[in-house]
Amino acid sequence: MKADLEGFIEEALLEVSNASDLKRLQDLKVRYLGKKGELTQLLKTLGSLPETERPAAGKRINDAKVQIDTAIQKAADRLKEVEKIQTIESRRIDVTLPGFFVPPGHQHPINTILEEICDIFASLGFRIEEGPEVEDDYHNFEALNIPKEHPARDMQDTFYVEGGLVLRTHTSPVQIRVMERQPPPIRIIAPGKVYRCDSDQTHTPMFHQVEGLLVDRRVSMAELKGTLEAFVHAMFGPEIPIRLRPSFFPFTEPSAEIDMGCVICRGKGCSACKRTGWIEILGAGMVNPRVFEFCGYDPGEFSGFAFGLGVERVAMLKYGIDDLRLFFENDVRFLEQF
Ligand code: PHE
Repeated sequence: MKADLEGFIEEALLEVSNASDLKRLQDLKVRYLGKKGELTQLLKTLGSLPETERPAAGKRINDAKVQIDTAIQKAADRLKEVEKIQTIESRRIDVTLPGFFVPPGHQHPINTILEEICDIFASLGFRIEEGPEVEDDYHNFEALNIPKEHPARDMQDTFYVEGGLVLRTHTSPVQIRVMERQPPPIRIIAPGKVYRCDSDQTHTPMFHQVEGLLVDRRVSMAELKGTLEAFVHAMFGPEIPIRLRPSFFPFTEPSAEIDMGCVICRGKGCSACKRTGWIEILGAGMVNPRVFEFCGYDPGEFSGFAFGLGVERVAMLKYGIDDLRLFFENDVRFLEQF
């Protein structure tokens, strides 16, 4: 038995050292040391030996078990290390290859102008308010004194949404929402997106406005003019004049269109200003008493002014751009210029 065992150990150790992967090693472990393994079988034959030889033989078998087990363990460690190195090698990256250039993005020019507008009005004491872009008929029209079937509704081609809602056609509904929420005095601007069913060189279905509303006691048109003049001077330079032209909006009375001197020809007359030297940039007026009544304000006690400024218009003038649609096509060759 002694010689048998020596031969058996030798063969087992050889097989273990030849095993080229962990799976094969596991099979060998089962074969030699498992419950039905060869050494276990050998242990079972001890009973047939003379009693005096049993302890020594048992010890030899157990020693063999330990010896083979240790060899398997060592081989496993070695194979694991080899596998690890192989994985690392297969995933090696060449750190000397040139990288991919990811061009840095930047703010859209409309947002830059929007922020600039907000900063100017903030410096004049106006707080920023926001309202929903999907608006109800009451806030977009009714409470602004634009009744149903009234021709004034045609001034703004409306996108209708299910459930009697609309995409707001202007930022004026924010006036109503703010007045519903709090008593005077009020001094807010409301920047945001507005929507109209309209598309050509000077109209896009979505554009931006900044609404302004100031309500207090004894507010006059002089304050409206002074505020907007301060804005134009801050935005385009102190030499640019403004003028008020009579106009009509259902929610203001009296109403005015505000023109500023053409920044392109400096008032001499060019194609941008249709040879007039003036460019229209705002709608404005004194808040119509009917609007105050809708909001529960006493028109005998309070007065105020409101204005609506087209952000794209300001951006086009500021950057000298003649096609509004360029702002929304997102052609990077255009956007990179800002
Ligand atoms: N809401 C008007 C428009 O979109 C602009 C405006 C606002 C006019 C406030 C007067 C007062 O055309």
